[in-house]
Amino acid sequence: MPLDLTRARAETPGCEHVAHLNNAGAALAPAPVLDAVVEHLRREATIGGYEAAAERRDRSERTYDAIATLIGCGRDEVAVVENATRAWDMAFYSLRLREGDRVLTTRAEYASNYIALRQVADRTGAALVVVPDDEHGQVDVDRLAAMLDERVKLVSLVHVPTQGGLVNPAGAVGALTRAAGVPLLLDACQSVGQMPIDVVAIGCDMLSATGRKFLRGPRGTGFLYVRRDLIERLEPPLLDLHAAEWQPDGSYRIRPDARRFENWETNSATKIGLGVAVDYALGWGLDAVKARVYALAAELRAGLDATPGVRTHDLGEERCAIVTFSVAGRPAAEVVAALAADGINVSLSPGSYSRLDFERRGLDELVRASVHYYNEVAELDRLIERVAALH
Ligand SMILES: Cc1ncc(COP(=O)(O)O)c(C=O)c1O
Repeated sequence: MPLDLTRARAETPGCEHVAHLNNAGAALAPAPVLDAVVEHLRREATIGGYEAAAERRDRSERTYDAIATLIGCGRDEVAVVENATRAWDMAFYSLRLREGDRVLTTRAEYASNYIALRQVADRTGAALVVVPDDEHGQVDVDRLAAMLDERVKLVSLVHVPTQGGLVNPAGAVGALTRAAGVPLLLDACQSVGQMPIDVVAIGCDMLSATGRKFLRGPRGTGFLYVRRDLIERLEPPLLDLHAAEWQPDGSYRIRPDARRFENWETNSATKIGLGVAVDYALGWGLDAVKARVYALAAELRAGLDATPGVRTHDLGEERCAIVTFSVAGRPAAEVVAALAADGINVSLSPGSYSRLDFERRGLDELVRASVHYYNEVAELDRLIERVAALH
């Protein structure tokens, strides 16, 4: 069933104001998310923050069920945190790496993840090894298979990178890591919300995601999934009285569920808003969302590639909602600014966010246009027309 575009746009107040093609940055929130957040903030101001949290506990608890349904896990396997980076870090820094260990990463690695990997590798003497890409520009699954030996203590895979439409073959990687007994940490920050994700089908052990991008949730929200039988083997790098309980004998006991990766103080309004966003996405159906965003992005890529002086740069056999391009003779920042002046939101992908990929391809920076299901073809045409005029 195709998506009801009229309804999608009517329920997205921002559509009246901008052609928003920066959904990989932060998508426009739908009205139900906006209402839920504002309503909770009002309730906090009316009866008190703790009191509002207690009164609406079912709503913040619903967020765990919604996420569990979204990615096919149990509610006890979900931690709700501030963003994808915090989610990823809480999982990664829980691992105990030593000299002689290896962590495998890929060319799609995100800067924040790479910096953390490098820090721990430098501290411990563990080796950080980059798995090469295949001829499509996605992780080479056969080369990865050959690299999985007893020294490998983690595979870090970015499902969809910040800098392009590539969808890495996460399921093929998960099948390998599962068979080898090596934990797979999947950065699903850019994939969750634009396509169906099932952690069991993929075979990942940990998954990090954010609320504000394709899920259309509030800023400052994210979540971590950790497979049940791994949770108690991972000691979080940070603990507080929510993650652990102070015992009468002076010791502490870390809670058994994934909330050991959370901390106590949280933004109840946005946490509730995240759950509403996930339910809203589920309401559309992630298969329908995927079909529409893939089709819109393919149309945009074709239109840009047919424009003199313009070139798209997306890699991979499967390409999603993110479209990256360059305009000959125009710095990316200039293109972004020209489009913004015309009410078209896109963003700039700097080389420092994805060095392993950009440096190999000889790229400094790209313009990134990322579609969502509420975008219409007329918005893509406007973008192409404006970009054509820049050349
Ligand atoms: C692939 C990828 N991973 C992680 C992140 C970090 O997400 P957050 O800003 O929610 O921490 C981003 C943000 O753009 C991203 O693109």
